[in-house]
Amino acid sequence: MSDITNEIKKRRTFAIISHPDAGKTTLTEKFLLYGGAINQAGSVKGKATAKHAVSDWMEIEKERGISVTSSVLQFNYDDYCINILDTPGHQDFSEDTYRTLMAADSAVMVIDASKGVEAQTRKLFKVCVMRHIPIFTFINKMDREAKDTFDLLDDIEKELGIATCPVNWPIGSGKNFKGVYDRHENKVELFSDTKKGTSQGEMKVVDMNNPELDWLIGTEAKVTLEEEIELMDGAAAEFDQELVSKGELSPVFFGSALTNFGVETFLQHFLKMTSSPLSRMSDKGEIDPMKEKDFSAFVFKIQANMNKAHRDRIAFMRICSGAFEAGMEVYHIQGGKNVRLSQPQQMMASERKMVEEAYGGDIIGIFDPGIFSIGDTLTTSKERFVYEGIPTFAPEHFARVRQVDTMKRKQFIKGINQIAQEGAIQIFQEYNTGMEEIIVGVVGVLQFDVLKYRLENEYNVEIRMENLPYEHIRWIENEEIDLDKIVGTSDMKKIKDLKERPLLLFSHEWSIRMTLERNEGLKLSEFGR
Ligand code: G4P
Repeated sequence: MSDITNEIKKRRTFAIISHPDAGKTTLTEKFLLYGGAINQAGSVKGKATAKHAVSDWMEIEKERGISVTSSVLQFNYDDYCINILDTPGHQDFSEDTYRTLMAADSAVMVIDASKGVEAQTRKLFKVCVMRHIPIFTFINKMDREAKDTFDLLDDIEKELGIATCPVNWPIGSGKNFKGVYDRHENKVELFSDTKKGTSQGEMKVVDMNNPELDWLIGTEAKVTLEEEIELMDGAAAEFDQELVSKGELSPVFFGSALTNFGVETFLQHFLKMTSSPLSRMSDKGEIDPMKEKDFSAFVFKIQANMNKAHRDRIAFMRICSGAFEAGMEVYHIQGGKNVRLSQPQQMMASERKMVEEAYGGDIIGIFDPGIFSIGDTLTTSKERFVYEGIPTFAPEHFARVRQVDTMKRKQFIKGINQIAQEGAIQIFQEYNTGMEEIIVGVVGVLQFDVLKYRLENEYNVEIRMENLPYEHIRWIENEEIDLDKIVGTSDMKKIKDLKERPLLLFSHEWSIRMTLERNEGLKLSEFGR
């Protein structure tokens, strides 16, 4: 096996998805702690800085016009080289959050044990399902009062439509949390609060048949555990690696990221169950990183104006095959010419650093003089191929936008088109009214502010925005359908994108169902191709 293939095999590239506050940052930080990338918890996002980051975010976002919090962290654990892709939430939730999932080979879903599946997890989960990537569940905060374990699993299965397979099982929760039962080993891992998780700590493991267990966890807890194991063995799905790999079965783990409990167990199992960099579809068929020797990558995210004085951008790309060296020349398929990949950057723990080399599975940020678009392919292969494009994700907020000074129409159109091309906003037009009005759609409301700020600062155009009441957009999959004949609901609006493709906007989710019922054969999609 070549050195390059060896390097690629070691890679594990995954995204962490969760609802804000479920413990994504804490878990990430504990991974870094076990990987030796940091030696004290609190370095990624300390309490003080976390609060600070929220309040300061607007300013930074405004100044730079970018989402500063979306990042990739790389660290080593055992013989693995791990890339964690963060999926930012709260105010900075944007289409980039979805796009990040296009660069991952699997996803870790963090769920708060007292809350179960929440809104943001649901949204991100849909993208994972669309991609059929493996999904692993970490049920966090077991040191706090939790929902009933069976109810939690039921919640995941019903809400998300994926089968679950508990790898371990919690013994109590909150004050009565005693640890987890390892199904495969038939052992109990005992909970101990390792100084709020600042050190890795040692975990005591006791065989289920060991008589000591009765007094270690208490007879009552032991009896409950035995009953639950019996119930679970009858009800839960068996572990099946093939189904896990296809994203149809989610292995579930329980723990408490804050106290480090269950984190290393999870990491060890997860690294074995998830895969090394996956093949990617291209117009020439699947490109397998284990077979394709040449470098290839696709752009999944563009951050504009890191440096306001230069209007430059950073294009984030996922390397799919081969090796990367700083300054190398590659062919940019969509641009039709060779480009030199300069100033490559990578995040290591909490610092940004220059990368000298990287391999299939890694993510790098490249200086972009404005030539790249989301979805672009770069390769050194003589045989040119294009990676399958990145879909357009459904915006949830819409506004009608117009320039204040009518003389500035040209700059306005240029600016809004460029910002849309970077992928920060989506633009649509009225359908059939002949009006030249522009409708902007965004995934996160903050993008409206970014748009306004950037148009004013970079294009010298002042705009006015009128919020529209729509929250749902659907692409029409069977384009042969005559849009004029679609019978909708009163809250439905027909629009078209810049490629003249018809779309529907709705204020209420139930109207989508009703419209589907009223128009036989109509196929609607949440993702635009
Ligand atoms: P996020 O990235 O998913 O938004 O969540 P984050 O890790 O920032 O965690 C959110 C809060 O939950 C943090 O509290 C964190 O300390 C706490 N937390 C994370 N994991 C656990 C866990 O396993 N058990 C318990 N009990 N808490 C956990 P915070 O920001 O310090 O706020 P506060 O709770 O002190 O008010």
